[in-house]
Amino acid sequence: MSTKHAFLLFLAAILSITSCTNGMKTTKVETTIKTKFQGKEISLDNEKKIDSLIALMTLEEKVGMLHGQSMFANGGVERLGIPKLHMTDGPLGIREEISQDSWAPAGWDNDFATYYPAAGSVAATWNPELSYIFGNSVGQEARARNKDMLLSPAINIIRTPLGGRTYEYFTEDPFLNKKLAVPFIVGIQDNDVMACVKHFAVNNQETNRDFVDVNTDERTLREIYLPAFKASVTEANAYSVMGAYNKFRGDFLCENDYMQNKILRDEWGFRGIVVSDWSAVHSTVKTLENGLDIEMGTRKPFNEYFLADKLIAAAKAGEISKEEIDKHVRRILKVLFQVKAIDSTDRTKGSLATEEHYKDAYDIAAESIILLKNDSNLLPLRLDGVHSIAVIGNNATKKNALGGFGAGVKTKREVTPLDGLKNKLPENIKINYAEGYLERYTQNDNNQKEELTLNTPRTVTELDPDKLNEALEAAKKSDMAIIFAGSNRDYETEASDRKDLSLPFGQEELIQKVLEVNPNTLVVMIAGAPFDINMIKEKSSTLIWSWFNGSEGGNALADVILGNVNPSGKLPWTMPKKIEDSPAHATHSFPGNESVTYEEGILVGYRWFDTKKVEPLYPFGFGLSYTDFEFSDISTSKDSYTEDEEIQINFTIKNIGDRDGKEVAQLYVSHPGSAVEKAAKELKGFKKVFVKSGESQNIAINIPVKELAYYQEASKNWVVEKGTYILKIGNSSRNILQEVSIKIN
Ligand code: BGC
Repeated sequence: MSTKHAFLLFLAAILSITSCTNGMKTTKVETTIKTKFQGKEISLDNEKKIDSLIALMTLEEKVGMLHGQSMFANGGVERLGIPKLHMTDGPLGIREEISQDSWAPAGWDNDFATYYPAAGSVAATWNPELSYIFGNSVGQEARARNKDMLLSPAINIIRTPLGGRTYEYFTEDPFLNKKLAVPFIVGIQDNDVMACVKHFAVNNQETNRDFVDVNTDERTLREIYLPAFKASVTEANAYSVMGAYNKFRGDFLCENDYMQNKILRDEWGFRGIVVSDWSAVHSTVKTLENGLDIEMGTRKPFNEYFLADKLIAAAKAGEISKEEIDKHVRRILKVLFQVKAIDSTDRTKGSLATEEHYKDAYDIAAESIILLKNDSNLLPLRLDGVHSIAVIGNNATKKNALGGFGAGVKTKREVTPLDGLKNKLPENIKINYAEGYLERYTQNDNNQKEELTLNTPRTVTELDPDKLNEALEAAKKSDMAIIFAGSNRDYETEASDRKDLSLPFGQEELIQKVLEVNPNTLVVMIAGAPFDINMIKEKSSTLIWSWFNGSEGGNALADVILGNVNPSGKLPWTMPKKIEDSPAHATHSFPGNESVTYEEGILVGYRWFDTKKVEPLYPFGFGLSYTDFEFSDISTSKDSYTEDEEIQINFTIKNIGDRDGKEVAQLYVSHPGSAVEKAAKELKGFKKVFVKSGESQNIAINIPVKELAYYQEASKNWVVEKGTYILKIGNSSRNILQEVSIKIN
């Protein structure tokens, strides 16, 4: 009999005695899924088992559980059957295996996985069902790779279009953010895997991220930066949260009493564990007392971590109590039981890189692609009379599963845009491929002052004359051209923000010249964040936006281009005309230095553009379809409501075009008579619906009146003001098609 089995039998014996002495049997808490996307609460059933385990542990064993003992796991206690907690990134699927004590790949040959579309794509679908599918699918892969925790989703608000991790995050809007985060987490956790919601919180820039001290007023914190984290805890019951690198109001987030103890645990009732971002811990006693549970990181030997030898020393010196240490050990044990990592025979086994998972990745990609412009009805491509297509651009063949500083995926399948076209176009159409621009970087020049704060990858902007010629020749001799432009995951990357919105590698010149020789050209942007596409918008009749779109990205893109899929993606953030128009930049409050104050306050994203009447290049929520939709007959269930009621908004969407398609109805709310500052409009509901050509659908969107509340700093309360509110239905923040007023009494 193994030590582990012997221990489990011993534990079972203790428990049966405890149960008998109590005179009642522990019944399994029924964790009912109240609504579709309501997560299971962490069970309190295992308290006695946990007590018994803690009683048997030495100080060293306890401390071993509180810090990383390899790159992606803490320490377990083998003799007591407590396994290590195995973690993995992340945003694009299950990361390749990393060495025990360095970032070098472990060199396994079975650590491949499905490459899923990045979070920006999920957000562009505006489809919570797909967010659940993503979470559930990647959760299965996590189990198949024997992981306990997925370091995902990343839900920081996109405050600046330059953010290096924009593609990893969902959106600039707190409502859309929470509506996508919750199903994603529930999907992951339905597979006995902990979601680790990151990076808690106000972690909105890469520049100076290791130390920058972020300041926001309380209302902004509550209304913009916290709602998705709150919903992750109170609705999705996330089992873990990752503390961010930066500081907030003077204290590092991983030792921030206000954020980790007061808000997360006392206010929201969080029962799970807080894991630090990698090397984000700066103290021993303070970090533990202020709410962190596991220190993870890199660079130094594991015993030198703050929650390793230093913690043992602090405990022996009486600087921290046994009870405090036990509290954190207890939390970790609780989540290990919750995901059936201890004492269970029916844990989800999972599956890896299956056709079903590739299909999930395809479905997300297909709904994420955004049609930005189709002025001459070039799309969907009609192939009669087309004998040849020039396919131009490095992005036609660029792979993005790996790359950059952030976590990637080793995948067996990544269909590039060129592969997708080859797969889907009839064989008699000749593809003339030309790379057009080269992905080239220069060394960063450390003498430039801005380099010290903005470590943006520097690119060579001159085109290679031969490559340019080749592209122009291909465009001239072909019936039409498709340019795959944009960026990639080496250019948009964790650990640096971009220095500006310009397109790298000389693409602007290339696109302009190709458009001159063949106006019958479609431009496809592949990127995870806003870029300066003013010229393209002006000169090209046809423009599509796609993303780092996963294993099946190329197939999804070809299906949209050819009309096998009617595009239904909508921008999850505002595309500014110029960076100075974006709120963090208009207020000169990015990136700061030692500290940064978010001067725009609650006016983040479209809230700023709409309130200040600044014209964006493309508004939040924008995206065209191959069909047209008509909105009509807006009404509400009543004219006036009280605070505890739910407003029901009814309206009709008619598909007046000749193709079936999906539309995202977006509900914005304005409160012109408010006594406090309010954004011109705020998203408070949305619904993605499929409507057949010629048919109509009656839609109902419900919003709890409480969703209209603002955060009142003086009373520390959410307050619903009385008065008249205008409910606006449209298909972008700038295209309101129907409105109706209601009263709150
Ligand atoms: C990132 C996290 C990530 C961790 C482990 C950090 O640099 O900020 O998002 O989960 O590394 O790879």
